[in-house]
Amino acid sequence: MSESRPPRFAVFGQPIAHSLSPRIHALFGAQCRIALDYRAIELSPADLAAGLARFHAEGLAGANVTLPLKELAAQACIELTPAARLSGAVNTLIRRAEGWCGDNTDGAGLVADLGRLGLRLAGARVLMLGAGGAARGVVPALFDAGVAELVVANRSAERALALAADLACCGPINPCRWDELASRGAFGLILNATSAARSGAALVLPPSAVGTAGTAYDLSYGAAAEPFLAWARAAGASTLADGLGMLVEQAAEAFQRWHGLRPPDTAAVLAQLREVAP
Ligand code: ATR
Repeated sequence: MSESRPPRFAVFGQPIAHSLSPRIHALFGAQCRIALDYRAIELSPADLAAGLARFHAEGLAGANVTLPLKELAAQACIELTPAARLSGAVNTLIRRAEGWCGDNTDGAGLVADLGRLGLRLAGARVLMLGAGGAARGVVPALFDAGVAELVVANRSAERALALAADLACCGPINPCRWDELASRGAFGLILNATSAARSGAALVLPPSAVGTAGTAYDLSYGAAAEPFLAWARAAGASTLADGLGMLVEQAAEAFQRWHGLRPPDTAAVLAQLREVAP
């Protein structure tokens, strides 16, 4: 008699060896007593479409997608959820008979983590730095959570304008030039969704943007979050957080879509990751 193998899952990206997702999903599986086999698999942008078709044919039960494949993955899906369609980026693949349904759980993950930090988003005025894929991915969920106004500042003004136009259906988005930031007052919450630190560049921001009661949150984690959080600390922010909690929460959202239940203790998983995260 052959033993039944656990369902297979994967995270695709390039590079991918550093990914914490296999560890997170193994911990969730243990919490929920669900056997699963979740691996990190490197796929280049050029190989993504063929790779997704091959893994579907081989019976992969679900997958996550990370940098730099999220936008390309959206094009390779046969169906998109509203969150994925609005953001144009997919981080979670849900198996359908004919192919992949693309979802985006990054925004829900961010909102859940901001909740963990005790932040009230209903009625809030929020500043988002950056207007690329990471920024677009979280905008719909921020408005779903009740954000009243989102100011989007981007180095290249055209991209902030494009984001504001494309996502106007989500809520009031005000594009802002980087050099106008100093005149926009203080924000209770600043989200850094730029990739500046990944390229080793520093963000040049006016200290007045963050109020003394303000929260600064970087969607990246580890070393990539440090420059922005150091700026925010110096500018007087009262709460600082990197995106490791968002990573755990977006994974919990994906887990729920695949397995039908939410891991009961994401805080315990976050605490375990803090011990090993770079
Ligand atoms: P991601 O998928 O990580 O969002 P992206 O779509 O390439 O990557 O977007 C990167 C974002 O970081 C953009 O908002 C980019 O600003 P531009 O649109 O002006 O390029 C922003 N960014 C990257 N390096 C930056 C820097 N040194 N200073 C400010 N913003 C920067």
